[in-house]
Amino acid sequence: MNTTIDLLVTNIGQLCTVPAHAGGPQRGHRLGDLGLLENAAVAVHEGRVLAVGSRDDLHSRYTAAQTLDAGGRLVTPGLVDPHTHVVWAGDRADEFEQRIAGATYQQIMAAGGGINRTVQATRAADLDTLIAQSRARLDRMLAHGSTTIECKTGYGLSTPAEIKMLDAIARLSAEHPADLALTFLGAHAIPPEYSHNPDAYVAVIIDEMLPAVAAWQAEHWFGPLFCDVFCEVGAFDLDQTRRILQAAQGYGMALKVHVDEFEPLGGARLAADLGAVSADHIVVTPQDEIEVIGHSQTVAVSLPPTPFGLAHTAYTPVRRFLDAGAALAIATDCNPGTGWNESMQFVMALATRYLRLTPAEALAAATINAAYAIGWGDRVGSLEPGKLADLVIWQVPRYPHLSYRFGSNLAQTVIKRGRVVYDAGGSLGTV
Ligand code: NIG
Ligand code: FE
Repeated sequence: MNTTIDLLVTNIGQLCTVPAHAGGPQRGHRLGDLGLLENAAVAVHEGRVLAVGSRDDLHSRYTAAQTLDAGGRLVTPGLVDPHTHVVWAGDRADEFEQRIAGATYQQIMAAGGGINRTVQATRAADLDTLIAQSRARLDRMLAHGSTTIECKTGYGLSTPAEIKMLDAIARLSAEHPADLALTFLGAHAIPPEYSHNPDAYVAVIIDEMLPAVAAWQAEHWFGPLFCDVFCEVGAFDLDQTRRILQAAQGYGMALKVHVDEFEPLGGARLAADLGAVSADHIVVTPQDEIEVIGHSQTVAVSLPPTPFGLAHTAYTPVRRFLDAGAALAIATDCNPGTGWNESMQFVMALATRYLRLTPAEALAAATINAAYAIGWGDRVGSLEPGKLADLVIWQVPRYPHLSYRFGSNLAQTVIKRGRVVYDAGGSLGTV
């Protein structure tokens, strides 16, 4: 007797299941295990993966209410973007013009531009405007195959404006098909009113914002909330970073840290010492701290659109992280300053060229390991029974195309929790 299920995605030419390894991420040189199946199908019921296997086998076992024919194309897990600043108002196209004319990101920041420009615009925007502008970006992310997206605050930098950002993310989470992970980043920059006394702002974060965020969380958010700090010259030093993160732990928050984007301050070691879920950027991390990350549970998150967006030449030395045994993930870092990029496909294209990841490694770093970078490895990131039925049918026959090609959207159909949430339409073929 056949079992009746909600959905069968079938006629899959190549299926990448991208399995977790022993209930964890794919570490070190084991990165890139795609769990490939040919002529495959995925059985979906009640929003979850029920089974994956050969097309013939699944057809004989299940009767589906709906069948989706993948036309011999590639299917992968929905992509996971584990580091974004996707919620903001306004833009900084003028700063991009200045940078291309020779100004550096840090010079623009020191002159009052940079993050604080977006803070001004975000504070001034009402909630609906902030949501509308951010929703358009989330829609494009989803259309490019990202079905789970981490979202940070950090353009409010006052208690009410940070709470407004949390409200925006909570509303977007309720209405948007993508699952959103939530990160409080009150420590993104020193706001102008504290530029002469950064420690006073640190005290505001610890004494005022964290309790307010914890109270907000209890009322408005089911699930974990991360606290993140931008540990950098001109932002928060190592001691300030430690104090903020430890205070956040006191409220039960999990930790993420922006470290070693421009200057090495010891943030990677701190992230590992505090048991942070991820250490992000890691461009100028010294070798001894790479080893520390490699021996820790902290996922190393590389953001290649950031140096690309800044026209810098230094990228995360990922081969050294992998040699040290680290779990590596990749993300867009989508933000209005260093890199406004909404596509994890483009991140894979950059990661293969500038990080020297193989196409298989880049895909695993954008799926299962990215899921672990937000603590959701048991829920998303791979096509294994019990996981959310988040998957993408691509307009390509095999996985290397996802990083080989760039600049056009290769997603054909995006499925979130068993439901089609984007379709490119037409008959676009597979080449
Ligand atoms: O990750 N590093 C800090 N934050 C962003 C930049 C944000 C901005 O410039 O608005 C980043 O690169
Ligand atoms: Fe960032």
